Amino acid sequence: MSDLQTPAARPANPRFSSGPCAKIPAYSLDLLSDAPLGRSHRAAVGKAKLKEAIDLTREILGVPEGYRIGIVPGSDTGAVEMAMWSLLGARPVEMLAWESFGEGWVTDAVKQLKLDATVRKAAYGEIVDLAQVDFTRDVVFTWNGTTSGVRLPNGDAIPADREGLTICDATSAAFAMDLPWDKLDVVTFSWQKVLGGEGGHGMLILSPRAVERLESYTPAWPMPKIFRMTKGGKLIEGIFQGETINTPSMLAVEDYLVSLKWAQRIGGLKALVARAEANSKVVADFVAAHDWIANLAVDPATASTTSVCLKFTDPRIADGAAFAKAVAKRLEKEGVALDVGAYRDAPAGLRIWCGSTVETADVAALMPWIEWAFEAEIAALAKAA
Ligand SMILES: Cc1ncc(COP(=O)(O)O)c(C=O)c1O
Repeated sequence: MSDLQTPAARPANPRFSSGPCAKIPAYSLDLLSDAPLGRSHRAAVGKAKLKEAIDLTREILGVPEGYRIGIVPGSDTGAVEMAMWSLLGARPVEMLAWESFGEGWVTDAVKQLKLDATVRKAAYGEIVDLAQVDFTRDVVFTWNGTTSGVRLPNGDAIPADREGLTICDATSAAFAMDLPWDKLDVVTFSWQKVLGGEGGHGMLILSPRAVERLESYTPAWPMPKIFRMTKGGKLIEGIFQGETINTPSMLAVEDYLVSLKWAQRIGGLKALVARAEANSKVVADFVAAHDWIANLAVDPATASTTSVCLKFTDPRIADGAAFAKAVAKRLEKEGVALDVGAYRDAPAGLRIWCGSTVETADVAALMPWIEWAFEAEIAALAKAA
């Protein structure tokens, strides 16, 4: 091991966590100085900030007119569950899962809401065949599996004239991947992923058909205040204009605005998508050039461009989990990559966040360190044998 040279260059920013993700380049707390702290979120200044966050979200994501955008409590989980609790039960349901968060929504539907849902699951690294899905039913799925590194390549299999609603958890996809709005009735995400914002608040985007469902259907189960989007059978429009259900963090809102304005400055969605694609390509090229590491995504067409999940395939590795953990620890100790161990429920390996706030030069600088850490751990195994 002593002749193993450490790479010459280090990533300038070692933050490759899959959430909360790296802040925007050149981030500083000074950027938050315009936050209306100590003021009511219902005062004109607070309401204007919340409305601006909604308007910029619409502009950058290209959300069509007529779709409502709300800031809701409970981060992405809050947004997904608010949608599930409010919309499901009106017609048959299909639940699709290809990793742990999608499985969480299956548990919600089957064990909590007690729906007789059709459940389709794919193993880690694979995706459900959307051609098999019955879109006359309501369908719940995750666009990008943050813990498995697989995503839908597009929405082609979803009929534009479907009868059911599509409810899409897009938390690690929004802002880094193109989302086909005409194929999606509910889209949710949180601020701390692709834009590197803060946790706590969820975004809930509703198509006109989702609103129609909300206004024509009352679920059989009780609805906590925190989930209620209608009053007297009508949508509470204020929620989608910045009148939040309960108190938001205006500091987190300011932080989201800072990220949105950065996104706008660099060229909007196109630039954000291109950054994630360039980052993930660096990892893909590295993986292609080494036979001891592989992408967890079986089909490159479904490989994530944000949460890139890798596995070690070297036959000398007996305990994959211990090996991957040791590599991640070594990288962390060197200060070159923080939080890159695979998610606790996912197969052993590394997960490198390649979302839009990450600089491509940093991903490139990290690759030789992964090789270094791998070789160091292999050498340690040989020494222990
Ligand atoms: C696909 C997916 N869904 C849901 C969540 C939960 O998000 P939050 O912690 O914002 O509620 C995450 C978080 O990593 C996620 O990746």
